[in-house]
Amino acid sequence: MEKKILYSAVQPSGNLTIGNYAGAIRNWVQLQNENDCFYAIANMHAITVRQEPAELRRHTLELAALYIACGIDPEKCALYVQSQVPQHAELMWVLNTITYVGEMNRMTQFKDKSQKHADNINMGLMDYPVLMAADILLYQADLVPVGHDQKQHVEIARDIAIRFNNRYGETFRVPEPLIMKSGAKIASLQEPTKKMSKSDENINACIYMSDDKDTVIRKFKRAVTDSDNEIRISDEKPGITNLLTIYATFTGKTVEEAEKEFAGKGYGDFKLAVGEAVADALAPIQAEQKKLLADKTYLTGVLASGAERAYKAARKTLSKVYRKVGFYQGE
Ligand code: TYM
Repeated sequence: MEKKILYSAVQPSGNLTIGNYAGAIRNWVQLQNENDCFYAIANMHAITVRQEPAELRRHTLELAALYIACGIDPEKCALYVQSQVPQHAELMWVLNTITYVGEMNRMTQFKDKSQKHADNINMGLMDYPVLMAADILLYQADLVPVGHDQKQHVEIARDIAIRFNNRYGETFRVPEPLIMKSGAKIASLQEPTKKMSKSDENINACIYMSDDKDTVIRKFKRAVTDSDNEIRISDEKPGITNLLTIYATFTGKTVEEAEKEFAGKGYGDFKLAVGEAVADALAPIQAEQKKLLADKTYLTGVLASGAERAYKAARKTLSKVYRKVGFYQGE
């Protein structure tokens, strides 16, 4: 069977949460063996909201180390930093000319972020999905493994690809989102109908990948549930359903198995068990990340060779695009 091309990325915009792990990185690890994978650190997306430059640089390296600590193998995948491959911005410009302001205006994340950052509704924030489309289309990706909240962005990337192909002739492979059944929508621990988000102001709402065991257990103890004391999956029980999902994600069990395991138990014991499972899974990742961060030479080498691999693939697509749109490229 021909290998599929996979593309995905995470923004280095601060502390990652277990939502980023469950919805994205964890699946990337499983997918890297059978596919041709490009996993990027989306620092160009990150600056659409204000970032402290020194912190952004630090978070970029921390995220590279985290990818590897979670099991991404830089020998198998191209692990690289988005801004090191200039074709992302170049393709975005071309794609901008076939994307309509109206459709960008309707993007859910744009509307949310405009509300949250009302003092900084910049062009980049609006153009964010076009940059993401450029990321994906540049590598001719078949599949884009993401959490549920990114589905709309992958769909617009599909629309843009189809539109370009129709206008200029077959150029891009049309990508599809790859959203796993479990873990694609980890909810806030404080408002379980909302997604867990690294930009949440309430730190008790999120479990960060860097949280220590005491913090993890304390946050799960305070997690909002309900008062009927039954541990089961149900739309009416978003808090408990979320905890069961998290437990399943971090133990490798199915949600149904988790539900059976805790049937008849009390909420206190259940929350403690979820906290312990998560903390025990995070500890080795954190230790490995720390070790990797102490070896800057290794990390720099990984990112340089990742960028080189990505650059080669990106250059090919961009040159095809430039030819199709009629850009002079010399003789
Ligand atoms: P970002 O950095 O917001 O999130 C990274 C990944 O984590 C997933 N995710 C979640 N999954 C489950 N539950 C949650 N609570 C949760 N929160 C986040 C996201 O769905 C995502 O898969 N624009 C993207 C980054 C990006 C990208 C790309 C992704 C840039 N270019 C090209 C795919 C392809 C973003 O901001 O993700």
